[in-house]
Amino acid sequence: MLNPKQLFLVLLLALCSLSAWARPDEGMWLPMLLKQLNETDMQKKGMRLSAEDIYSINKSSLKDAIVQFGSGCTGEIISNQGLLLTNHHCGYGQIQSHSSVENDYLTKGFWAMSKEQEKPNPGLTATFIVRMEDVTKQILGDIPSNLTEAEREHRITTNIKKVQYGATNGTHYGAIIRPFFYGTEYYMYITETFRDIRLVGAPPESIGKFGGDTDNWMWPRHTGDFSIFRIYAGPDNKPADYSTNNKPYTPKHHLPISLAGIKEGDFTMVFGFPARTTEYLPSQGVSEIAEISDPAKVKIRTMRLHLLEQDMLADPKVRIQYAAKYASVSNSHKRWIGEMRGLKKLDAIAKKQDLEKQFAHWVSQETGRKSMYGHVLPHFEQNYTILANDISLTRDYYQEAALGVELLSYAQSFLDLAELIQKGYQTEQQKADIQTQIKGLLDAAPAYFKNYNQATDKKVFASLLEMYAIDIAYKYQPEALKKAMEAKKFTWASYADKVYGPSNLASLEKVTALLKLSPNAIKAKLLADPAVTLLQSFNNVYQEEILPVYNQLTEQNTLLNRLYLQGLREMQKDKKFYPDANSTLRVSYGKVEGYKPSEDVTYEYYTTLEGLIEKSGMTEIPDYRIPDKLRELHLKKDYGPYAINGKMPVAFLASNHTTGGNSGSPVINAKGELVGLNFDRNWEGTMSDIMYDPERVRNISLDVHYLLFLIDKFAGAGHLVQEMNVIYPSSQPDPVVKKESVEIKHKDNIFKTKKKVKIDD
Ligand code: ARG
Ligand code: ASP
Repeated sequence: MLNPKQLFLVLLLALCSLSAWARPDEGMWLPMLLKQLNETDMQKKGMRLSAEDIYSINKSSLKDAIVQFGSGCTGEIISNQGLLLTNHHCGYGQIQSHSSVENDYLTKGFWAMSKEQEKPNPGLTATFIVRMEDVTKQILGDIPSNLTEAEREHRITTNIKKVQYGATNGTHYGAIIRPFFYGTEYYMYITETFRDIRLVGAPPESIGKFGGDTDNWMWPRHTGDFSIFRIYAGPDNKPADYSTNNKPYTPKHHLPISLAGIKEGDFTMVFGFPARTTEYLPSQGVSEIAEISDPAKVKIRTMRLHLLEQDMLADPKVRIQYAAKYASVSNSHKRWIGEMRGLKKLDAIAKKQDLEKQFAHWVSQETGRKSMYGHVLPHFEQNYTILANDISLTRDYYQEAALGVELLSYAQSFLDLAELIQKGYQTEQQKADIQTQIKGLLDAAPAYFKNYNQATDKKVFASLLEMYAIDIAYKYQPEALKKAMEAKKFTWASYADKVYGPSNLASLEKVTALLKLSPNAIKAKLLADPAVTLLQSFNNVYQEEILPVYNQLTEQNTLLNRLYLQGLREMQKDKKFYPDANSTLRVSYGKVEGYKPSEDVTYEYYTTLEGLIEKSGMTEIPDYRIPDKLRELHLKKDYGPYAINGKMPVAFLASNHTTGGNSGSPVINAKGELVGLNFDRNWEGTMSDIMYDPERVRNISLDVHYLLFLIDKFAGAGHLVQEMNVIYPSSQPDPVVKKESVEIKHKDNIFKTKKKVKIDD
């Protein structure tokens, strides 16, 4: 037992270590609460705007220039004609969809030289936030505290529908209501979604994806990761389906672009839609990620990437087939490695344990607290112990190893089809559903097989299933696998032959032939197919033994986390808490700054075209190849008005707390002007989804100088720059630019700036 004095010392130490990492750069804040929680701090750090300039429902504000782009990225409006800026990797699908061998926009880039050339993208949306509202009372007000989690969920869903209906009925708006702080609070976001979004321009991949997987998640970085779209609206400036009659959207606000340049220490903020963080996990939750899940997923993907790479290097056809898959498998693989290392370096588990000790002590001080929170930590311990005993690991192996085999993940929709047919093929509805499914599979098959190489997949099959068999407890081995391994002279390669040889799902011809049969014949063939039956066998283990336990524990942990966080907020009354990211609009703020990745290395906060050209000299790395035109512009130093002291800035670092979904977010300076386009984080900082470290967590952004240079000088699309509100530094007058005062349309616009317009073209 510690005596009171010792205890005091222990607590003091814990507090010190806590305050060291809980620096205020951390956080993804709610726009409507900025005034109350952050305005003073932001202004102290250099911001010259008010909270009302950032988020207001009475006048136009920064938020009116921010959109959720598609479902997973952010974009911002940069002209009064609805020009939208986002990342190249966010517009990738659209750029690819317009590409063909003759018009390969991925390789060559694409630039619409007039509005007529802008390309529509069916299905793509851009969503503005009209306003947000705290709806906790409406959602939770009538819910008694003694309900089970399932009953509570049910009541909440009903309430959410009611509130959403009340808020949007009779309007063209949408309403998103999400839980915050594990369901302690609920906020509603009223949205306006535009549906006619056209592609305006994208640089070639050798710029937009410069550095590829080699540089992904890394600093120093030189990726020109941007693409440009335009929002079109109906004649009333409201959302409309695609039509040639639509007009470029007139936004309430668009971001001015500052070419004044940034320096270390400058205030920055990032406004966007971060997708998911889990900052309030207990120590056991962190250890589950850092010690079980991340290592398992990394191990499996390391093997998978190695096998893909071998075949991609050996055959140019396979290289093209697997380029996008490889990039996406490798993106998380690399992030998990960074996350594991980062958590270790931060000593994250010990820090969480320190906090839990404090919490336990605080709880023990009052009986009320004891009955409210006393069970939380022990119950966490219990639940995570069960998860750590095979449940988590088997879940990861099911998802990453079993479903990492393309044949098996492909088999899932065929298994669904077989089960649907089994349910019945009598009513008109049943027949229609089945025909829709069959048609869907038929339509998707050519694209699937275009990017599929069976020989590669068989190697993946053999290696990943072997890993599953070795690493996963015997009781969680699928029956089909156990039986296969009992065969005489069993090898994984021969097993692959036995599955792929007779499978109906192994080639386009076979799939097409299969789907042309009668539903009953399809069902019979599928239920006897070795790939389908193997998947079924995996599913049996997963759905019957893993998922129910996992779901039950996760549900309990959500409730525990809700209480834990509620308790922490009571305990740390002076600390400002921010809710985990949940794909809703947030503001992060920090400053321009470099970092030290390790004891003896210091990184500058910016990169330049010089560094990019230097990298391009490493001709053995294909990710570093660049277009000749860029090399020429560099040779001639033909930078137009976009250089700073003769140098072209390319990317910069800042300490804004961001995550996936923040891609494409604007980086905004103290005056509300665009200075960068967020596209990534540094490798040493990727644990920020779980624990933030002000020393090492940085977001990586494209510098607007490079952006405008590429649009104007490289692509020759200077007319787009003219559309923007570019603020040139007064110390560096641009010779081809003359001043002209432009009245900004919205009289309540917060930025009445002087626009400069080129006069020579
Ligand atoms: N790391 C970036 C983010 O998570 C994605 C970059 C895409 N490029 C790539 N080489 N995978 O979105
Ligand atoms: N690259 C990520 C994205 O696409 C951003 C990040 O994870 O920092 O959202």
